[in-house]
Amino acid sequence: MPSGYEQHLDWVAQRRRSLKERLAKRFAEPVSLTLEIGCGHGHWLVDYAAAFPDKTCLGIDIIGDRIERAERKRQRAGQGNLSFVRGEAFETLDLMPPQVTLAEVFILFPDPWPKKRHWKKRLFSLPFLDELAKRSDPGVLCHFRTDHDPYFDWALELLPEQQAWEREEGREWPFERETVFQARAPSYQSLILRRV
Ligand SMILES: C[S@@+](CC[C@H](N)C(=O)[O-])C[C@H]1O[C@@H](n2cnc3c(N)ncnc32)[C@H](O)[C@@H]1O
Repeated sequence: MPSGYEQHLDWVAQRRRSLKERLAKRFAEPVSLTLEIGCGHGHWLVDYAAAFPDKTCLGIDIIGDRIERAERKRQRAGQGNLSFVRGEAFETLDLMPPQVTLAEVFILFPDPWPKKRHWKKRLFSLPFLDELAKRSDPGVLCHFRTDHDPYFDWALELLPEQQAWEREEGREWPFERETVFQARAPSYQSLILRRV
């Protein structure tokens, strides 16, 4: 009888296999993706993909029923240039087929994890910027927006600690459409990074 820990390892291995297979099937050909990480119910990306029909868009979120709702929205909109996948951000990037690269990245209102002991859970982090950089050619833009001022300052403070991304000051936000969290936010700040 396998131990609880062995069962957990089996479950993780199975989850990874299934995600890898789904990604390989969906992106069998080389493609450069517009990636939204933590897309929630997909409101923003459905509109973005409709506005830019020549782009191939992928939204990922760790919560299954958010992705199901996003997928229903995509189907109603009849959009062929857009997919949604349930997955954890690092794991999904790690399991993408090698021929998948990033054209641009959006991280909109990620969970701020305000308590100091939880900062290590923040998505926008040095390891995450490294992971994105592996799939990004020079010039790729990464867009980050948050309503949590300390998270924004924290993101700025990380930048000198890495070399792969530089701040693009003064660059216009490419597409304005309120996300669910943006609609609730009294104010927010935006940061655009360019892959060096
Ligand atoms: C605060 S919500 C913002 C949702 C949407 N971007 C918006 O602005 O309305 C953060 C989203 O990120 C997702 N998320 C958090 N950590 C994640 C991770 N490690 N990988 C993928 N998605 C994640 C959550 O499930 C949630 O839907």
